[in-house]
Amino acid sequence: MAYAKVQCPCFLIFSYLLLILVHLNSSDAQDLKACKFNTIYQFGDSISETGNAIIEFPILPYGRFPYGMSVKEATGRPSDGWLMIDYIAQSAGLPLLEPYENPNSNFTQGVDFSVAGVTAVSVDTLIKWDIPPFVTNNSLMVQVDWFNKYLPTFCTNVADCQEKLKSSLFMIGTIGFNDYNLAFGQNKTLEEIKNIMVPGVVQTIIDSVKKIISFGATQVVVTGTFQMGCTPGLLTMFSTNTSAAYDAHGCLKDYNDFFMYHNSHLQVALEGLRKEYPNTHIIYGDIYNALQSILDNFSKLGFKSLTQACCGIGGKYNYSHDRAQGCGQAGVPVCSNPAEYVFWDVAHFTHQANKYLSEWLIKNMLPQLQCA
Ligand SMILES: *[C@@H]1O[C@H](CO)[C@@H](O)[C@H](O)[C@H]1NC(C)=O
Ligand SMILES: *[C@@H]1O[C@H](CO)[C@@H](O)[C@H](O)[C@H]1NC(C)=O
Ligand SMILES: *[C@@H]1O[C@H](CO)[C@@H](O)[C@H](O)[C@H]1NC(C)=O
Ligand SMILES: *[C@@H]1O[C@H](CO)[C@@H](O)[C@H](O)[C@H]1NC(C)=O
Ligand SMILES: *[C@@H]1O[C@H](CO)[C@@H](O)[C@H](O)[C@H]1NC(C)=O
Ligand SMILES: *[C@@H]1O[C@H](CO)[C@@H](O)[C@H](O)[C@H]1NC(C)=O
Repeated sequence: MAYAKVQCPCFLIFSYLLLILVHLNSSDAQDLKACKFNTIYQFGDSISETGNAIIEFPILPYGRFPYGMSVKEATGRPSDGWLMIDYIAQSAGLPLLEPYENPNSNFTQGVDFSVAGVTAVSVDTLIKWDIPPFVTNNSLMVQVDWFNKYLPTFCTNVADCQEKLKSSLFMIGTIGFNDYNLAFGQNKTLEEIKNIMVPGVVQTIIDSVKKIISFGATQVVVTGTFQMGCTPGLLTMFSTNTSAAYDAHGCLKDYNDFFMYHNSHLQVALEGLRKEYPNTHIIYGDIYNALQSILDNFSKLGFKSLTQACCGIGGKYNYSHDRAQGCGQAGVPVCSNPAEYVFWDVAHFTHQANKYLSEWLIKNMLPQLQCA
């Protein structure tokens, strides 16, 4: 009896503490609602692509299972579930973005202009660099032009557009990886790519941001590149017996350094933009450090595999450059628990990895957006 009497208030106190903790946690699990965004516009490549590519190229497997398996819906997203932009839209209290090229899309609260495989620079620039373009003529500037064409659906002149875009979040990137990947495929050296391509890719991103600001954007997040040297695709492409080529995580050191080099240049250029546009919030989306936080807390977060794709034909990194053996093709197996993998396929994050990456990014972006 005495025991029960003691137990009872303890339980109450415990419940109360739990309530406080839950409350603290929910205000601590920082979300973007404080910013009161009413729309999000996303530009970029497959990392943020919600279904444009399957409209352009129905042959792509992103619109059928196992793509989307973790959310029970295959929408065209190159993942087993949600992308970072989906978590970001949810955090802002907005519906998930729909793809620009799908005539059935609802654009009331934003548009996703991203397309898989897209480069930052134009096809003409790629050709000038002696790089045969990919299957698409799309590029970052093409997406910015799409946005320009879309503007008259809701505003009439610059002042009006600026007013209407006051509560819009603009997400630029990831973008640039495909430019570099095409050059890797041409056997160009990292030195060559650093000297010739990085300045051009960064300048194209900056020019696109300027254009978007000229349309009225005031809150812009420009995302860098991540450790692509950890992806099953690059690891398979540059597989070597030289152990010095790899870091402690089994990633390709020189390639990760290269992507960091791109990011440093982008950050310097963004600093210049901030001086030019002091009234615009221009934020660097630090996806490299977001992924680093997964690498640093790997097992704690429940991950078991970094460099192997969850969905793939087998081999060291569970990936093959043979398209017929790619994720989504007949007979290509899927791991039993995608949440234990960082990469879903060649270079795209799993639903679970995207969740952690977006949480990190949101926490990092919020103070810079100065919404509260
Ligand atoms: C589009 O989405 C908005 C809210 O996000 C909703 O109010 C509206 O009914 C939708 N329109 C259509 C045609 O589905
Ligand atoms: C890309 O552009 C070139 C020239 O501008 C054109 O010849 C080609 O058909 C285009 N390709 C696609 C897939 O649109
Ligand atoms: C790149 O190198 C590989 C292997 O040495 C070779 O097979 C391929 O033809 C080269 N590609 C180009 C575009 O030079
Ligand atoms: C690495 O070594 C193995 C065994 O010696 C060999 O079969 C393989 O081709 C080598 N791989 C590369 C990329 O050099
Ligand atoms: C991950 O590791 C970093 C140290 O690299 C630490 O600061 C951070 O709090 C950790 N995050 C989580 C979610 O455990
Ligand atoms: C990779 O591919 C194999 C089939 O070869 C599959 O059974 C497995 O679940 C995939 N994942 C890993 C990490 O091996």
